[in-house]
Amino acid sequence: MNAAVRAVVRTGIAGGFEVLGVRHGYTGLIGGDYARLGARDVGGIIGSGGTILGTTRCEEIRGEAGQAIAIERLRASDVSALVVIGGNGSQTAALALAQRGLAVIGIASTIDNDLAGADLTIGATTELDTALEAIYRLRVTASSHRRAFLVEVMGRHCGYLALMAGIAGGAEAIVVPEVETQPEAVAQCIRDTWLRGKSHAIVVVAEGARYDAEGLAAWFSRHSERLGFELRVTRLGHVQRGGVPGAFDRLIATELGAAATEALRQGKSGLLLALAGGRVTTQPLTASALAPKPIDARLLELAGVLAR
Ligand code: F6P
Repeated sequence: MNAAVRAVVRTGIAGGFEVLGVRHGYTGLIGGDYARLGARDVGGIIGSGGTILGTTRCEEIRGEAGQAIAIERLRASDVSALVVIGGNGSQTAALALAQRGLAVIGIASTIDNDLAGADLTIGATTELDTALEAIYRLRVTASSHRRAFLVEVMGRHCGYLALMAGIAGGAEAIVVPEVETQPEAVAQCIRDTWLRGKSHAIVVVAEGARYDAEGLAAWFSRHSERLGFELRVTRLGHVQRGGVPGAFDRLIATELGAAATEALRQGKSGLLLALAGGRVTTQPLTASALAPKPIDARLLELAGVLAR
């Protein structure tokens, strides 16, 4: 997110805008907590995780009253346009503000990579690298001790991170929310792995799956004889966030930030900027662009073949 903030500030100033930074997301927008940002204020942030501006989960912006206050405050401060860097929740509010007449440009940014309108959102590849490092470490222990590990990754209701981390991490099984998977099926997969003579079994589980790591572990504890391996469970949780952004994330965030300024310079509004088809794309900020991204069934099937 910082790379996007930096790009918006610097390209904005270069394009003749005065740029303000809103502190703590929509809470700051409603509370009028914003301050002018100069080019030097965003120096040295391209390599830092998170956002220097701060963020919050803000319930108030979902309602009409919160949205009206936010717009009123912006108008009173002579702010003519807003760039929203965020995922589904942030962009849904951005859409509501755009529908109320504010000039808004959204930048697709979430580690979950769960927006139908984006191939890759800011943060997803850095998060994946973090998850992969953890999976590699767990696999070392798993192999040495002949164990199975359930590794739970984030992603909210979307299985993208689990699928990608599972494939890139060489997992023996992947459990995603989009395909209901019974514990018996996962146990069978672990058992087959044991019988095939593998020294470990790694199961990557999405936090949004009906049987998440906790649910599977509870079931396995009652049926441990079905696994072969001894079992351990690791929930990666917030460790997956806040990492040093990788090159790809810094570059797409920079491109998207610059594209946001350009869109505003052209007087555009109500757009979602995202990486799709390998390039920066501009599409209307609509519910369908923000709808859940479907799981790639072909990749899920391929993962099963690769796990042999
Ligand atoms: O949307 C990003 C995300 O990290 C999800 O993967 C996760 O479910 C959620 O946010 C965690 O939210 P919080 O930090 O508010 O607990």
